[in-house]
Amino acid sequence: SSSSALKVKRNPLFSSLESKDVSFFKEILGERNVVEDEERLEIANTDWMKKYKGCSKLMLLPKNTEEVSQILKYCDSRSLAVVPQGGNTGLVGGSVPVFDEVIINVGLMNKVLSFDEVSGVLVCEAGCILENLATFLDTKGFVMPLDLGAKGSCHIGGNVSTNAGGLRLIRYGSLHGTVLGLEAVKANGNVLDMLGTLRKDNTGYDLKHLFIGSEGSLGIVTKVSILTQPKLSSVNLAFIACKDFLSCQVLNHLDGVRNPVSSSENFYILIETTGSGETYDREKLEAFLLKSLEQGLVSDGVIAQDINQASSFWRIREGITEALQKAGACYKYDLSLPVEEIYNIVNDLRGRLGNLANVMGYGHLGDGNLHLNISAAEYNDKLLGLIEPYVYEWTSKHRGSISAEHGLGVMKANEILYSKSPETVS
Ligand code: FAD
Ligand code: MLT
Ligand code: ZN
Repeated sequence: SSSSALKVKRNPLFSSLESKDVSFFKEILGERNVVEDEERLEIANTDWMKKYKGCSKLMLLPKNTEEVSQILKYCDSRSLAVVPQGGNTGLVGGSVPVFDEVIINVGLMNKVLSFDEVSGVLVCEAGCILENLATFLDTKGFVMPLDLGAKGSCHIGGNVSTNAGGLRLIRYGSLHGTVLGLEAVKANGNVLDMLGTLRKDNTGYDLKHLFIGSEGSLGIVTKVSILTQPKLSSVNLAFIACKDFLSCQVLNHLDGVRNPVSSSENFYILIETTGSGETYDREKLEAFLLKSLEQGLVSDGVIAQDINQASSFWRIREGITEALQKAGACYKYDLSLPVEEIYNIVNDLRGRLGNLANVMGYGHLGDGNLHLNISAAEYNDKLLGLIEPYVYEWTSKHRGSISAEHGLGVMKANEILYSKSPETVS
């Protein structure tokens, strides 16, 4: 369970749930949205990786900001601990209770509030599922600035709270740039209206940025205003193979990617380009691929011929997480490293672990983000002892980050000093 993995004890200052609390919640939310059903609680208590498990006896499903505010105000007055939960797809154990915290899930708050077809600004409730927003925007000729494998379940509020990066960050930038405003409810029930839709606003501190990536620690995000992008008519996708990591320097020819260095493995890169000149864009990508083949940087490559082939390419990339999950135990690290160092840690760890486990590296090369995954038949302490703190120390030595995009969660809450100086944490 998460508590034993964390080796922490429940803080005795928090009270335990009593029947009067449940009655209060039923009064304000209605019976249906106060969940005590064991099966549903089992699911809500367990994280996506099935690695962290709490023992909450209650999940609350508020329908609007006012209800979230009432819940938090009450929990604050009763010293009841809470955990905000979105689509529960987080990979670091942040979305489930550690002990018996009340789960607050904003999944019923799933309405699009407005969409401005001139500016592309979308305002919606935090419980909207990312894929539903993408489908809605598609009908308007726009796209979300973020996309990730968990799109079918994750909430935009969860994305904001984890500052999710995903597959389009290199194209559209991070949520710190695209989120224009937020509404959030603090632990004492106070509602913070930061729901601006302006591109520019320099009136003092920009408080919303604190909430982006705060993993529920500052309050519950209830509404999001986000800048979306016009859907471009030409989308091209190349799936290419390189014989070694050095050859991935092929990416140097694309904007924003630096030169990585050597290794002797096989590598696959997915490159998606978007633009407005269909023939020109395709010819450009083909010419790039041809030149890279001639130079020997790429050993093989194919450009998707139609939308079905393109989605099958993306499925390969987006399905890695699930495939690893099915393969058995998976120790998952999410590192930012200087690009030229990115693959050295994979090789180092392979040497260190020998045949105890399979070490895999994938991620977002253009963002300097390596997903280092160690796959084994089952979890065991000996293996863990060889991986940690080695991986964290390695990352720290290279001034990387021990969480590029997944957050700290309970998995890494106590490891923050590997990436931040003590003065910035206390
Ligand atoms: P949850 O998992 O429910 O919660 C995550 C954290 O946010 C928790 O700490 C929770 O307390 C908090 N939280 C949730 N909602 C709120 C709210 N409304 N207010 C305040 N706090 C809240 N991440 C990436 O960055 N890039 C990827 O490419 C990526 N791909 C993924 C692919 C798969 C298959 C999976 C399973 C996960 C992936 N992730 C990725 C992890 C990522 O963090 C989540 O998918 C997503 O951003 C979390 O959203 P969620 O709604 O599921 O949040
Ligand atoms: C990804 O890039 O696929 C996600 O961040 C999930 C993962 O790290 O497995
Ligand atoms: Zn990722």
